[in-house]
Amino acid sequence: MRVGVLTGGGDCPGLNAVIRAVTKSLIRHGHCKVLGIADGFEGLMGAAPRAQPLAWDQVSGILHMGGTILGTSNSANPLKDEATLAQVARNVRTLGLDVVVAIGGDGTMSLAHGLQAIGLACVGVPKTIDNDIALCERSFGFDTAVATVTESLYRIECTASSHHRVMIVETMGRHAGWLALEGGVAGAADIILLPEIDYDLDVIVQRCREREQRQRYTIICIGEGAKPRGGAQTVREQVAHSPDPVRLGGVAHALRQQLQPHLKSEVRATVLGHVQRGGDPTPFDRVLATRFGHHAAQLVIDGRLGHMVALQNGLIGSVQIAQVANTQRTVPPDHELITMARDIGVCLGD
Ligand code: F6P
Repeated sequence: MRVGVLTGGGDCPGLNAVIRAVTKSLIRHGHCKVLGIADGFEGLMGAAPRAQPLAWDQVSGILHMGGTILGTSNSANPLKDEATLAQVARNVRTLGLDVVVAIGGDGTMSLAHGLQAIGLACVGVPKTIDNDIALCERSFGFDTAVATVTESLYRIECTASSHHRVMIVETMGRHAGWLALEGGVAGAADIILLPEIDYDLDVIVQRCREREQRQRYTIICIGEGAKPRGGAQTVREQVAHSPDPVRLGGVAHALRQQLQPHLKSEVRATVLGHVQRGGDPTPFDRVLATRFGHHAAQLVIDGRLGHMVALQNGLIGSVQIAQVANTQRTVPPDHELITMARDIGVCLGD
């Protein structure tokens, strides 16, 4: 069997751990040749495919490394038009691939689903710091990103308390607030603003004023997809040709402008940005990524193609890629973490 492995979408810590586990499991099983495809689906879109065999030694010593040894792309669109699709099909034939293990987020799963139309069999592995893939309670990369947000909030708190300021810290996460919520709770934010709960400026002003009287500083953790009631999300840029062209970002600066005139304290904004995507995976993510990679190899070996590895109730299993394509898992407003945050006095902006 010839198995291609690719990493698609934005990178996140733990991708190399998956590549290592898939490759080693398939090599140990025998009868499998593993090829690493360069730069996600982009490696299958050119005049010639860009892929090379992955040997045991090439995937050794990479478990702890951030990024991806294969490269990735979050703007490549193999479904762009008929000509691109035909080229992908030719490249898959040239490489003699029986199946592609696509390690990616909801965008990659949607592309993998679409590619089944040209007979390309895929097995999916969910990755993202956003933790927003449907039917999977935890994607690897998220735990590491939460740790980065948590540490950043502590650093910000040190300077906030010294200067008696209101500090706004913006996390990634797109339309899902998981990263802001878990990072905000772990980093003891006073106000947590999520894309799922539109914020009311008056409520935030009120909370900051209360804190001006007592603690004299306030930490606000805001997900990049958050928006004011009746307002719109803050778009950083549009990436032409990308299957999902909108890039969010900058809401922390917008909120700073809105808040400052109402407060005595100075307000500052920090956008954490791509720092959240880098670094070595935490032990939790290394183990989860290895479990995911191992299970993906099992799906290939068992011929359960068209499936994505998933974590549900703490157990590794799989769901059909068709079930998760073109959908996202956002934070339910009645989620236990939200109720808990409210009960311990965190302001959710509503
Ligand atoms: O999906 C992962 C993610 O990091 C999002 O949280 C963020 O909105 C987006 O990717 C950023 O994309 P880019 O790397 O193209 O700026």
